[in-house]
Amino acid sequence: MLLEQKNNEFFSKKTPRPLTMQYLGGKSRIVESILEEISRTFSQQDKFVDLFAGSGVVAFEAQCKGYDVIANDIQPYSATILTSLLNFDTCSLKPIITELEGVTHQIIFSGSREKYLSDYFQELSFFNQVQQEKLEWKEYKNFVENTKLCSGNAKEIETLKGTEKWTLFLSYYRNTYFGIYQSAELDFLREFAEKFPKESKEHILACIVSAMTYCVSSTTHLAQFLKPNSQTSTINLIKKRSTSIVEEVLKRLKALESNSSNSRNGVTAKVFQKDFKSALKEISLDSNTIVYADPPYFKEHYSRYYHVLDTFILYDYPQLTYNKRIGSTTIGRYREDRITSDFGKKALAKSAFESLIDSCMNAGAKLAISYACSSIVDSDFFHKHAIKRNLKIEVKEFYLKHTGQGQARHKDVTEYLFLISQ
Ligand SMILES: C[S@@+](CC[C@H](N)C(=O)[O-])C[C@H]1O[C@@H](n2cnc3c(N)ncnc32)[C@H](O)[C@@H]1O
Repeated sequence: MLLEQKNNEFFSKKTPRPLTMQYLGGKSRIVESILEEISRTFSQQDKFVDLFAGSGVVAFEAQCKGYDVIANDIQPYSATILTSLLNFDTCSLKPIITELEGVTHQIIFSGSREKYLSDYFQELSFFNQVQQEKLEWKEYKNFVENTKLCSGNAKEIETLKGTEKWTLFLSYYRNTYFGIYQSAELDFLREFAEKFPKESKEHILACIVSAMTYCVSSTTHLAQFLKPNSQTSTINLIKKRSTSIVEEVLKRLKALESNSSNSRNGVTAKVFQKDFKSALKEISLDSNTIVYADPPYFKEHYSRYYHVLDTFILYDYPQLTYNKRIGSTTIGRYREDRITSDFGKKALAKSAFESLIDSCMNAGAKLAISYACSSIVDSDFFHKHAIKRNLKIEVKEFYLKHTGQGQARHKDVTEYLFLISQ
């Protein structure tokens, strides 16, 4: 069915995306223009594959426009967000919202988490100092620096698992990416989600992942956390750590729940969590399919910048990387087993693009690639490959300011959209 024939009530009104993420490379600012250009050039297709879907903004907006959507991303946190965003049966959320509204501090610190209550009382005294404008920031710095965390080596992990339950965030990350209370909330929420059936659990986890990207003690991503190093920075950090993650999750659950009344007649959605090559093998591509590809630009980009989100979803007590130079766990507390991508490796990026283009063209599908001019493959490469394979190629340009990944510098970047077909 053509898109305009699916123009029912749901598609004619703008549906706000209920689960946003602070996401590097997220296309929220240009998604409308991207989809407009795609539908203008490939006007006969109504199946949309978002192959590197990340925060899900493009897949979600494509679905709102009436495309049948398949969304894929290799990272577990992304697949969780995508599953929730694109599957809109959220009728089961009301009792969950009611139960979560009744959660108390005692429940948050129940079970093994009780062990961390004294740390929380200390944190609370700093929260109060900020409220009363009496903060001694060096005392908070001492408190943070003296936090004893799990080093992430195999022996310590085994001991931790044998003695405590549902304390991964408290034991690995308190006073780093999250405060004490926030870490207890995260452990509580992860345990809480586990008791619900799969569909409800996915929605709860997705709301938590979305909330984590806004509550984290960092500037934009989760590769480094902020440290107290002056009166002002410490006040800001403490204010961030006073934000309740449970409250933020409740807001998102309510937004999801209120979306469930919107029927999306006739559209379907599927989510994969695979490397793009395996996803392409599994999806039946044909002349009715548009593949949208927005790959990463750096080797370990997303697995490094969002490792804490993956650990939250997997809750697998990962071993952490060790920095020989400083003789301890790496400051960013990264997982040992991070996924790397060919698109971010100078030697492999071109062949990764060639394989992507060839798979789509061999199946007769249309391909739209988003890519930034600052990345490791230049725009000439796409034109040369299209000539070599006798393909049609059009290029659109969008101008964007990229944030300097936590630093004050901002860069003007040209974002390309290559539209490729037989
Ligand atoms: C530039 S981001 C996509 C952003 C997305 N379009 C949005 O607006 O949020 C690239 C995505 O590719 C994913 N990724 C990295 N390597 C991958 C691979 N080999 N296969 C599939 N996805 C991969 C990353 O997890 C990341 O979410």
